[in-house]
Amino acid sequence: MTADNPLRVGLPPDREAPPFSLVIFGAGGDLTRRKLAPALWRLKAAGLLPDRLQVVGFSRGRRTDDGFRDVFRQAARDAGTAADDPTLAAFLAQIRYVAAAFDDAAGYRRLADVLAEGERARGIPPNRLFYLATPPEAYPVVVGHLGAAGLARAAPGAFCRLVVEKPFGRDSASAHQLNRELHQVFGEDQIYRIDHYLGKETVQNILAFRFANAIFEPLWNRKYVDHVQITVAESLGVEGRGGYYDHAGAARDMVQNHLFQLLALVAMEPPVTFDADAVRDEKVKVLRAVAPLVPDRAVRGQYRAGMVDGRPVPGYREEPDVDPASRTETFVALALMVENWRWAGVPFYLRTGKRLAKRVSEIAIQFAPVPHRFFRALDLPDVEPNVLTLNIQPDEGLALTFGAKVPGPAMRIRTVHMDFLYGSAFGQAPEAYERLLLDAVHGDSTLFTRHDEVEAAWALLTPLLETWAASAAEPVGYEAGSWGPTPAFDLLARDGRRWRRL
Ligand code: BG6
Repeated sequence: MTADNPLRVGLPPDREAPPFSLVIFGAGGDLTRRKLAPALWRLKAAGLLPDRLQVVGFSRGRRTDDGFRDVFRQAARDAGTAADDPTLAAFLAQIRYVAAAFDDAAGYRRLADVLAEGERARGIPPNRLFYLATPPEAYPVVVGHLGAAGLARAAPGAFCRLVVEKPFGRDSASAHQLNRELHQVFGEDQIYRIDHYLGKETVQNILAFRFANAIFEPLWNRKYVDHVQITVAESLGVEGRGGYYDHAGAARDMVQNHLFQLLALVAMEPPVTFDADAVRDEKVKVLRAVAPLVPDRAVRGQYRAGMVDGRPVPGYREEPDVDPASRTETFVALALMVENWRWAGVPFYLRTGKRLAKRVSEIAIQFAPVPHRFFRALDLPDVEPNVLTLNIQPDEGLALTFGAKVPGPAMRIRTVHMDFLYGSAFGQAPEAYERLLLDAVHGDSTLFTRHDEVEAAWALLTPLLETWAASAAEPVGYEAGSWGPTPAFDLLARDGRRWRRL
């Protein structure tokens, strides 16, 4: 259907992926089931994966090849594919499983044999993509064993890459340490650190919007922008991930990665070219230009019981696997300054939280008011300043507000909206994981975070995390289904501003 869309006519076809083998470590885990298997199946069904392919699962569980295939059968079922679909049958035949503990050297030798055997049988060159979908403690273990088994080096003319999931460390020291451990075995150009927000079409659209249009960039600075608001709100709670989340919290889980990435894309200078290093160089510069975060300009909250979508939900401390006395934050709001020529004096307000009133992520560029209040003499209410919103989810698109005259004999002005909806213009967009998996296969690391970017993000956040950890104060409670704790509103009120009503 999308092929008939006139906006797609004349575009070059999608790149064809080279034949390759994918190894998923942590094949029995949640990420494989929820994200990777569905993404792989959708790619396969869309004809974006090569015919010469093998997918090998590796994990502790006592599964068999066929047991691992069930994960993909389920993904296909969820996508509405018939059980006897011939593409599905062909895909399932390409799936293998190696049952081994991550620290079992013999498991890696078996893996090497399975890979080589499949490559021989199917005529796949030794292009290999290793995906770490394991708990983070296992990363150095798996990587060390891949190195020891001789699996980390690319064969001549082939590729060998490592995809690493977040969390990428839990502070500056651990992120440095992890980078060192990875670099002992893999070169930086082999490493693809996933931040799935970068795979979202609307996040990539920030780059297109800013740098494929001449008219916005001249306004994108301290002269015209009053402030920027970045909101990533979730209505979900911790959803069975209490054990992980209680050791992470919203700052580590969302701010260090997704929110800082959005900030970097919105605030960065135009890269010289659209290649991985040029884009990432500019993003790192933004993170390095942010003034140290001060506790006085940061709010952390924790949800109490409340109502979400019309049903009662428990408080965070009542969630399974959460310490009943937990001080982990489920909400963060920050006011920060990017200290460079473009943004000096323009506050960036960031907020994210679980169990908020609804799921919505957006970036709002709040422009300055008009310099001369021309209509005051007419005793009209002030015309509201223009706002440009980049809607990341769920209503993907863009909106610009402006003042327009209300028809009639009197001069009355109202704020109106001009909307662009991604879905209605282009049809359904692929999921973030589909895009990122394909990019890793193609060797395009533009949408993956480089080691210095990750370290810059941690360098920014770690002092604040340490202050919070050392403080006797607890996160401020907020009711589930609200828009967060009161101090988050005070944060902007002190500056004479307010959060947008979403
Ligand atoms: C993940 C976090 O990285 O992002 C989750 O670990 C969070 O806690 C999720 O729910 C949000 O992603 P999305 O794509 O649903 O906005």
